[in-house]
Amino acid sequence: MSARTLPKAGRAPQLDPREYETSFGEFIGIGPNGNLWVDGCDVAELVERFGSPLFIMSENQLRYTYRSFRDAFREHYPNSEILFANKSNNGLAIRHIMNQEGAGGDCFGNTEMYLALLAGTDPKTLVLNGSNKEDEELEMAIANGLCINIDAMDELDRIDAVAKRLGKDVDIGIRLALDLDPLAERQGVAMHGPGTMKEQSDSTKWGMTREQTVEIVKRAQVMSNMNLVEIHFHLSRMSNIANDFAVMAGEMITWAAHIRDETGWVAPTIDIGGGWTFGKWYGTGPNSQMDDDSAPTADDYARECAKAIKDEAARLDFPLPKLRLEPGRALSGPAGVAVGTVGAVKTGDTKKWVNLDLSTNHISWAAILDWYYHALPVRNAGAEGTETVDLVGPLCNSDELGRHRKMPPLQRGDFVAFLDTGGYCESSAARYNAQRLPATVLVTGDTADVISDREEFRDAAGRFRVPPHLLAGSFAPQAGE
Ligand SMILES: Cc1ncc(COP(=O)(O)O)c(C=O)c1O
Repeated sequence: MSARTLPKAGRAPQLDPREYETSFGEFIGIGPNGNLWVDGCDVAELVERFGSPLFIMSENQLRYTYRSFRDAFREHYPNSEILFANKSNNGLAIRHIMNQEGAGGDCFGNTEMYLALLAGTDPKTLVLNGSNKEDEELEMAIANGLCINIDAMDELDRIDAVAKRLGKDVDIGIRLALDLDPLAERQGVAMHGPGTMKEQSDSTKWGMTREQTVEIVKRAQVMSNMNLVEIHFHLSRMSNIANDFAVMAGEMITWAAHIRDETGWVAPTIDIGGGWTFGKWYGTGPNSQMDDDSAPTADDYARECAKAIKDEAARLDFPLPKLRLEPGRALSGPAGVAVGTVGAVKTGDTKKWVNLDLSTNHISWAAILDWYYHALPVRNAGAEGTETVDLVGPLCNSDELGRHRKMPPLQRGDFVAFLDTGGYCESSAARYNAQRLPATVLVTGDTADVISDREEFRDAAGRFRVPPHLLAGSFAPQAGE
């Protein structure tokens, strides 16, 4: 790892994908010594230097993926804007990278908004989503000038009260509960299931009905401090078929035209949320049920959504709005690698377990979606899998990181990497069994910096409080007893 040269101010670095013996991304692959590398760093060296378990993020991979996604949409729909879903990775350094790239952001909740503002994100590029926003949250959004996507009938009045108190005007949008009738027969994925995509959307996705939306718009139109700026929807990852997203995007225009006809307000922006997938040739696990080579590319999504929006706008004579998207996992996911160290290797009558210090606290989706992450050894990363093992973590519940994985023989001290863990791993990590959270390092070329500290015992103990009456001395016999 070498000394760093800082990029010239105001200029985002040029990115040339690296050549690897085997590539898992543009900046992740098997390097010259046969080990897994992230950009110009050998992952084995990173773990030896920064400890295990370890989250690794590739700055250049994140920038590259962001630019590819942005460019795909701009090609098919020039007036489009990418809002990184901060929830997928709330690291301040990650947000700084997104700021440098010019990405806006989707914030869900007070703290996500606080972190994005702390990183210096332009508030006019941030939206606040949420189905049950706190007063404090509305106040922070209004004070800083974010667009608030309304998601409850009493929210407009609550925003109005805070805005009046602060003497501010507010940008508002409305989250819609689209009908999605064409998806009534299409099965959604198990993650949100059971049921068809329409059933899953109706039962698990927030938003306002057509009548409620029209009512909110009419009421906002007579409030002098409200600027109506967008309508919003989030299909989520209940599908990885581009046409399902196109159906949704087209219906945004159907609703926009309906709102125009009922109220006269012409929505200048439609925000079509997140849920965009990314595909990898190796699939995302042994079953490769989703997100393999056949998954839609950003270009597929962009082409199909742009066509649906343009067709519906032409049909209803609606002026083409600005398009906003809120990808999270598709941007941050491929930039991350999570690594654990092998401890005990146990052979039972029916299976072999390889115990790691990484757990489902750290990569929580592995617990519900066994196929999610592709696992491989860090050293001799291209070695053929010759035995089927369960990769498990150290937690006291069933802590399955990857069942029935084909791996080469592993022994105590080896490192195992899980790919595509840059989204929703650190940000949804838990502390069950009082496990302390791993460090995260950001790799940039052949340098690496810690961007999240590894938790210490003091971090685990420091949150807890003991009221005086429970202190040991309070049970000491009193004088005369
Ligand atoms: C409103 C909203 N936008 C964007 C996203 C990001 O979704 P994804 O990471 O699947 O792209 C989410 C995820 O829950 C969301 O709730």
